[in-house]
Amino acid sequence: MKFLGVLLVLCTAGVTAQFNATEFVEVLTTLSNVTTVLTAVLQLTELESIFTGSPFTFFLPTDDAFEAAYDDIELVTLLQNQTVIASLLSYHLINGTRVLTTDFVNGRAFETFLEGETITTLTEPPGIQDATGAVAEITTADVTVDTGVFHVIDTVLQYE
Ligand SMILES: *[C@@H]1O[C@H](CO)[C@@H](O)[C@H](O)[C@H]1NC(C)=O
Ligand SMILES: *[C@@H]1O[C@H](CO)[C@@H](O)[C@H](O)[C@H]1NC(C)=O
Ligand SMILES: *[C@@H]1O[C@H](CO)[C@@H](O)[C@H](O)[C@H]1NC(C)=O
Ligand SMILES: *[C@@H]1O[C@H](CO)[C@@H](O)[C@H](O)[C@H]1NC(C)=O
Repeated sequence: MKFLGVLLVLCTAGVTAQFNATEFVEVLTTLSNVTTVLTAVLQLTELESIFTGSPFTFFLPTDDAFEAAYDDIELVTLLQNQTVIASLLSYHLINGTRVLTTDFVNGRAFETFLEGETITTLTEPPGIQDATGAVAEITTADVTVDTGVFHVIDTVLQYE
């Protein structure tokens, strides 16, 4: 029986855990300064069908980052548009890999969940460079859950 138990554990570990929207929202509510992302996420229906990649690495821009990137009207407009929210969040998601800051390689590009768009990891300090060349620094690193990892960043990542 003991042997069977070990086998079962091994088998379970081999199964790729799916993106879990409940867990995602829970994490966002426990972190400071990410209420804009939380608001955006709550506008999206069927999160699980949007973010199918697992494990994942999700970058969460702070509220200050959103304020710096958009004026009030732009932000309200953005937060009402599911298409825009889904694309923007997809660009903040590395699909299929859990990348801890200790695994960051300077200049390594990762495909994001947004088709054809990449972001690049930087080290010392750990950060992310987007398609426009802007650099986001990580303010809270390595918040891990079963299905992935979250990093809070100080800049909204933008693509062309
Ligand atoms: C999703 O996360 C919630 C909260 O952490 C947990 O209770 C639930 O079991 C998870 N669902 C799956 C399918 O793992
Ligand atoms: C949240 O933002 C405030 C104001 O910018 C800052 O003072 C505080 O350190 C931030 N908290 C975390 C956990 O980053
Ligand atoms: C959402 O934004 C897209 C891209 O900017 C735009 O084409 C679309 O009309 C917007 N949808 C709504 C409901 O405003
Ligand atoms: C995400 O990864 C999964 C599994 O590798 C793949 O099937 C899917 O096409 C990827 N999605 C995007 C948008 O790259």
